[in-house]
Amino acid sequence: MLWDKRDDMVVHEWEPFNAEPPPAALADEPLTPVEAFYSRNHGPIPRVDRGTWRLAVRGLVERALTLALADLRRGFEPRTLTVTLQCAGNRRAGMMAVRQIPGEDPWGDGATSTAEWTGVRLADVLATARPLRQASHVAFEAVDVSPLAHPSQPYGGSIPLAKAMEPDVLLAWAMNGHPLPIVHGAPLRVVVPGYIGARSVKWLRSVTLQTDPSDNYFQAVAYRLLPPDADPDRAEPGAGLSLGPIALNCAILRPDGGATVRPGPATVSGYALAGEHRQVVRVDLSADGGRSWRQADLDPTASAHTWQLWHADVVLPPSSDIELVARAWDDTGALQPESAEPLWNPKGYANNSWPRTVIHTSTQT
Ligand code: MTE
Repeated sequence: MLWDKRDDMVVHEWEPFNAEPPPAALADEPLTPVEAFYSRNHGPIPRVDRGTWRLAVRGLVERALTLALADLRRGFEPRTLTVTLQCAGNRRAGMMAVRQIPGEDPWGDGATSTAEWTGVRLADVLATARPLRQASHVAFEAVDVSPLAHPSQPYGGSIPLAKAMEPDVLLAWAMNGHPLPIVHGAPLRVVVPGYIGARSVKWLRSVTLQTDPSDNYFQAVAYRLLPPDADPDRAEPGAGLSLGPIALNCAILRPDGGATVRPGPATVSGYALAGEHRQVVRVDLSADGGRSWRQADLDPTASAHTWQLWHADVVLPPSSDIELVARAWDDTGALQPESAEPLWNPKGYANNSWPRTVIHTSTQT
């Protein structure tokens, strides 16, 4: 498979390459192997020469910087952190079941993956550049040029300066203990815990301190939550809500939807992911379409920024269609919304409704 991914990746598009693992590949794996990690791209994947590559830090700073990879490695304390990335389009397929979303891919539960990232704190680099008082946003620009943007432009985005100064926002050059693969942003990418994956800009080439959010297409036009009646092709830059922090969510990973399994004891497993600065504290599973529920067991987590893997033991009745439903709570006591219907939006972002999947039991398996 392209980019050394698993052969059974669900490929939504070959160019740009957009692929997610089958759900079961994520189940019970605290760290997602690189070959299973989802890949979300908006243009051709660039090959960046590590030797000549430089990161520019500029804009509203006292001291503009130009840094080679060796400068980052030598000049700043290294940091390794396990972080889950989730695309805003994760579980869009569930929203498409409510109403069509033309022009977008039907991502399932697999646009979510977890890796151990190594690099330096963005905050340390910014502290060296010394942001000026007027600076309140940090814009990232990448090397890859997206023909899907209007007009065609390098991929980019921004986060508030206050977020950028959090110690767990990284500029990462390694993933799961190995050099960052090309497809995941080599030589350097941003990793923004708790934010939609779109802000974790790959193939980073500049960091600009500015007064306002980035006017890049992928910040000002795409990755915004439009009202249901809006026409996304006519939306003005700045329309709708800018997506940043992610919402509480969960998914059922195993058994596969549509699978036929033997009746009797079975284990259902999945992930839940709390929003920024929150933790998942409870996950419930129903094996009868939501009439009765049991609490799932929660696995230990590697950091405050990762998914919460869970599993629940159930006894499945013979010869029947069984609707599995899951729902998660965070530590504010908030519960996921029950249905995708009121969440529907024209680009299909942020579907965090209760996941539902139907399996069948048979003694013939
Ligand atoms: N960075 C660049 N330069 N180009 C991109 O297309 N896609 C973004 C983000 N960073 C993107 C990017 C989106 S929408 C997501 S969800 C994540 O990268 C996906 O990261 P991954 O491909 O490493 O899984």
